[in-house]
Amino acid sequence: MEIKNVCVLGAGLMGSGIAQVCAQAGFQVTMRDIEQRFIDNGMNTIRKNLSREVEKGKRTQADMDAVMARIKPTLDLKEAAGNADAVVEVVVEVLNIKKQVYKELQEVVPAHCLFFTNTSGLSITEMAALTDRPDRFIGTHFFNPVPVMKLMELIMAYETSEETLAIAKAWGEKLGKECVIVKEGPAFVVNRVLCTMINEAFFTLGDGLATPEDIDKAMMLGCNHPIGPLALADLIGNDTLLHIIEGLNEELGDKYRPAPLLKKLVRAGRLGRKSGKGVYDYTKK
Ligand code: CAA
Repeated sequence: MEIKNVCVLGAGLMGSGIAQVCAQAGFQVTMRDIEQRFIDNGMNTIRKNLSREVEKGKRTQADMDAVMARIKPTLDLKEAAGNADAVVEVVVEVLNIKKQVYKELQEVVPAHCLFFTNTSGLSITEMAALTDRPDRFIGTHFFNPVPVMKLMELIMAYETSEETLAIAKAWGEKLGKECVIVKEGPAFVVNRVLCTMINEAFFTLGDGLATPEDIDKAMMLGCNHPIGPLALADLIGNDTLLHIIEGLNEELGDKYRPAPLLKKLVRAGRLGRKSGKGVYDYTKK
C-alpha cells in the first residue's frame, strides 16, 4: 500500500510540525483538533515557518502556497480521517483520552488505514490493543522542532506487522527523516536517555550546585550539546517531561525518580516556553 492521504490528529507544536513536513513531501494532509483556536495556532505556526524559509530564499512563495494548499484544517473527525491512508495521532498524552479518540477513529477510517502514534512515553502495545488493527499500528516518534530534527523513531508494538513497519519507514524517509527501529520499552531510546539526563539537571539545580544558566552552559560547552538541558526542558514542556519520567519511574523503578524541583515547576504552572515561564522567563523578551 502507498500512503497518499495523511490525517494528523492534533494541531499543537508537534501536530502542526508533522502536518507541515507531510505537506512539504507532497502528501495531502488533513489536520484536526477539537477547538478552532488550536487549529488557527497550528496553521499560523506552519505559515510562520514557511514564510521564514521564503524570506531566507530557501523556498519560493509559489512553493509555500502549494504546501499550504495541501493542508486542510478541520474540526470534524470524519472529514479529517474518512479518506486517510494513515492517521498520525498526536493527541494529549492521557491514555483515557487516546482510548476515546481511537474508538471514534476506527468508526470513520477506511479499512486499510494505518494508525501511527507520536506518543513519547505511553505503551504503544496497550494503545494498539484497544483498536481493531493492532497489526497496522506503529509508533512514529518525531522530535521537536519537527521540520528541523532529522530523526524518527519507529516503535514496534507487540503485534505490529513487518508490512506496517516497511510502509511507515518508506513514509518517514519520504518526509526526509532518518529512521531507527526500536522495540517497545518505556520511553523508547531517545527519551529514556534524554529525559533521564534532563531530570538529573533538575536534581543538580535543586541541590544548588550551579545556576540554571551555568548548568546549561556547562552541558553546551562541555558536551557540545546545541542547547542546555534546562532550556531543552522548557522547549519540550516541563509537564510532558514529567509525564515521561513518571512513566519511566513506574515501569523501571526508583532510578528514574522525578526531581522534586521539576514537579514543583509543573505544579506552579511553569511549563516552559508554551506557558511563558519555565526554568526561564520568556515573557520579558
Ligand atoms: N521550526 C522550524 N524551524 C526552526 C525552528 C522551529 N521551531 N526553530 C529553529 N528552526 C530553524 C531555523 O530557522 C534555522 O534554520 P536555518 O539553519 O535554515 O537558518 C535552524 O533551525 C537553526 O535555528 P537557530 O539558528 O534559530 O537556532 P539554533 O541554532 O539554536 O537551533 C534548534 C535551534 C535546532 C532547535 C537547536 O537549538 C537544537 O537542536 N535544539 C535541540 C533540540 C532537541 O534536542 N530536540 C529534541 C527534543 S526531545 C523531543 O522532541 C522528544 C520528545 O518526545 C519530548
